[in-house]
Amino acid sequence: MQVDRYERYWMWTATGMLALFLVAIVLTAVVGSAHPPSHTETIDPETLTISGEFATPGVTTHAGGRAVVVMRAELYVFQPEVIRVPAGRPVTFRITSPDVLHGFQIVGTNVNLTVAPGYISEVTTTFARPGEYLVVCNEFCGLSHHLMQGKVIVEAPR
Ligand code: CUA
Repeated sequence: MQVDRYERYWMWTATGMLALFLVAIVLTAVVGSAHPPSHTETIDPETLTISGEFATPGVTTHAGGRAVVVMRAELYVFQPEVIRVPAGRPVTFRITSPDVLHGFQIVGTNVNLTVAPGYISEVTTTFARPGEYLVVCNEFCGLSHHLMQGKVIVEAPR
């Protein structure tokens, strides 16, 4: 079969780009620990501020130093806004929304959740070193979306 030189050139370019994208996906999954969501748990968004764990959001520390952070992402604030967790210990974030779609991203880490009303988003991570991390909402949720932020303070374990 006769294939024009420029046609062949573009075919190889397109094939090369596809291969490059595939390598990028595998690299971010393996090296950057970027994984698709694997947790499905539902909740009634209309009653979660009245009763249950999300009515009293906060940090609970369990035996062995494991921390569980229960949070609400709502218009236009994270509850609680400032979270203190220990370094070097597993920290599980459980987040839901009573209103609209929000995001929960801890800048500088691979923690990045979509927070949809009706669902509980959960992720477990370990902060290697003490420090302060900015938390941002990365899903456009309304006029003050850009003001929706919080802070994670990672403290040296006592
Ligand atoms: Cu909440 Cu953007």
